[in-house]
Amino acid sequence: MTTRFTPRFSGALFVALIGSAATAEGHSDAGREIFNDTAQPPCAICHTLKDAGAEGEIGPNLDDFKPTVDQVLAAVTSGIGVMPAFSETLTKDEIETVSQYVVAVTGGSGAETGTDALAPSSEDASVADLDLPGAAILAQGDPVAGEKVFKKCKACHTIDQGGANRIGPNLYGIVNAAVASVDGFRYSDALTGYGGAWTPDRLAAFLANPGKAVPGTKMSFAGLRKEQDQPDVIAYLDSLDATAKAD
Ligand code: HEC
Ligand code: HEC
Repeated sequence: MTTRFTPRFSGALFVALIGSAATAEGHSDAGREIFNDTAQPPCAICHTLKDAGAEGEIGPNLDDFKPTVDQVLAAVTSGIGVMPAFSETLTKDEIETVSQYVVAVTGGSGAETGTDALAPSSEDASVADLDLPGAAILAQGDPVAGEKVFKKCKACHTIDQGGANRIGPNLYGIVNAAVASVDGFRYSDALTGYGGAWTPDRLAAFLANPGKAVPGTKMSFAGLRKEQDQPDVIAYLDSLDATAKAD
């Protein structure tokens, strides 16, 4: 939790997003469901939130943090620190609903009164217009090209669901999964200590130069030198998981 968040979006866009979020009144059940289930990974695995029965400890306790609507919108849309961006996996409405919900149940500012003061919603505000590092990496990647890049990884990693751990752990569903969490694999202390989740931007840094991103890792791989190989292989890793989810 050393990374601090620097707001990247224009105030006008926030006003637009928050304006429409103000209509999300009474969406408490929907918000709770997104918090516990729809979001992948669910907010609940990382955050404590009493109303949702959540006791995660990776991120801040939201009952204590009492975020404002724009803090939740920003964190969920773009990610913050090790928290992944949800702009690709949740719709704009879902992001607004869960943000409104978190603020409503924690009593943070902006739940009701704060939003009334803001301008009415503008229909063309889109989360796709925001600056999204993780999402941008995935969008740049070509999974077909990535499958070829993955040949460099195959000696050490399986990728199929439930595949065996080899020299390295099985990589099924690794994008946005918790770091060093594959059952039965003995990780280095370095990687265990790295913590957090494999967001696309962290994966890109690790694959570009494993020993630099995670000093002391036992992944003895020089790194992907060609810049485009990074988004491509990440898109490939992500695509397998996405196909399974769609089944
Ligand atoms: C993989 C773990 C993880 C998941 C999943 C996750 N978060 Fe977070 N969240 C974090 C961490 C860690 C931080 C602290 C980041 C930092 O300050 O560097 C954080 C920060 C936040 C903040 C505070 C933002 C700020 O301005 O400091 C809010 C609000 C938040 N998360 C809400 C959510 C919501 C809502 C969801 C689900 C849509 C969610 N989080 C999913 C780990 C997670
Ligand atoms: C020579 C063997 C080897 C090669 C080649 C290799 N890896 Fe690894 N990989 C490992 C080992 C060993 C670990 C565990 C590192 C640790 O515990 O520090 C690992 C860990 C990882 C992790 C973290 C997994 C987790 O559960 O947190 C990712 C992601 C990863 N490798 C992706 C790749 C990709 C993608 C490639 C190809 C571009 C690749 N690796 C090439 C051996 C390898």
